[in-house]
Amino acid sequence: MVFRRLAAAVAFAFVSTVAPVSAQEFPKGPVTMLVPFAAGGPTDVVARLVARVMEKELGQPVLVENATGAGGTLASGRLARATPDGQTILLHHMGITTSATLYRKLAYAPKTSFGFVGQVTTVPMLLVSRPNFEPADFKALLAYIKDNKDKVSLANAGPGAVSHICGMLFMQLTGVKLTTVPYKGTGPAMTDTMGGQVDLLCDQTTGATGPVKTHKVKAYATATAERIPVLPDVPTAAELGLKGFEVGVWHGMYVPAGTPAPVTDKLNAALKAALHDPETVRRFAELGTAPVSDAEATPEGLKAKYFAEIDRWAPIIKAAGEYAD
Ligand code: MLT
Repeated sequence: MVFRRLAAAVAFAFVSTVAPVSAQEFPKGPVTMLVPFAAGGPTDVVARLVARVMEKELGQPVLVENATGAGGTLASGRLARATPDGQTILLHHMGITTSATLYRKLAYAPKTSFGFVGQVTTVPMLLVSRPNFEPADFKALLAYIKDNKDKVSLANAGPGAVSHICGMLFMQLTGVKLTTVPYKGTGPAMTDTMGGQVDLLCDQTTGATGPVKTHKVKAYATATAERIPVLPDVPTAAELGLKGFEVGVWHGMYVPAGTPAPVTDKLNAALKAALHDPETVRRFAELGTAPVSDAEATPEGLKAKYFAEIDRWAPIIKAAGEYAD
């Protein structure tokens, strides 16, 4: 009798945990959108713009949670451990693929822990400084950092963050090692740059456009092939003689591996609606970005990008021999 009850309980538990969720049953409550970096930063800005429309489409609140730490890997780990029912999703940038190599010990398996909803946007980067930083222009900056080296501070959002990757590239190309200062996101790093507590920051236009336009920070150069339309007065680093300083940050939306296809499809439809929403398009444009194409905003589009980027970065990081752990 006891055994039969136990067997029934186990069977019930099994059925209740693995029974596939149908599109009609989803979402059964608020959806948590994990964001790996601090509130007010560039990833958070993109997430909140997208969440605003997704919640209307899904008929349930989409609650953005800033699960910060360990260069974004903490949030990825949270997603990997979440129930694969679509109630927990992650909006992350390309750092999810670089950290697959940068971190040799992770609490998840980068190649098998995630399912894919779609790509979201690609954001350009630029190098900014505190408003009263001495060098008047990029040429003067290069001379200044050579003379002052590690007396110059360079903020970032921790190992694996794109501000870290962009800063490493800048130091590699200029041959100058600066003192790096990690934050929980470039939101707080930007606050300290504006306040004069740190000298330099490599940030995305989704975080930097406002402070540059209002002269709260000084912009030296973009890390792009072409000038950025919303910041037409900021030259590219290549124009100023520093070739190869280019970082484009792409974003994707993820679910835990094993999330049923009808749920992923429903999330994808809501994501696509958000990317077509005129207010999202307008705000993205103001922030120097644009939604990805419909083909990229698909589970297949993100999956292909994700694995290609893991393969692209692995040899680069291994050759540099610089790991986050
Ligand atoms: C952020 O949202 O704070 C940034 O995307 C962090 C980073 O530099 O990767």
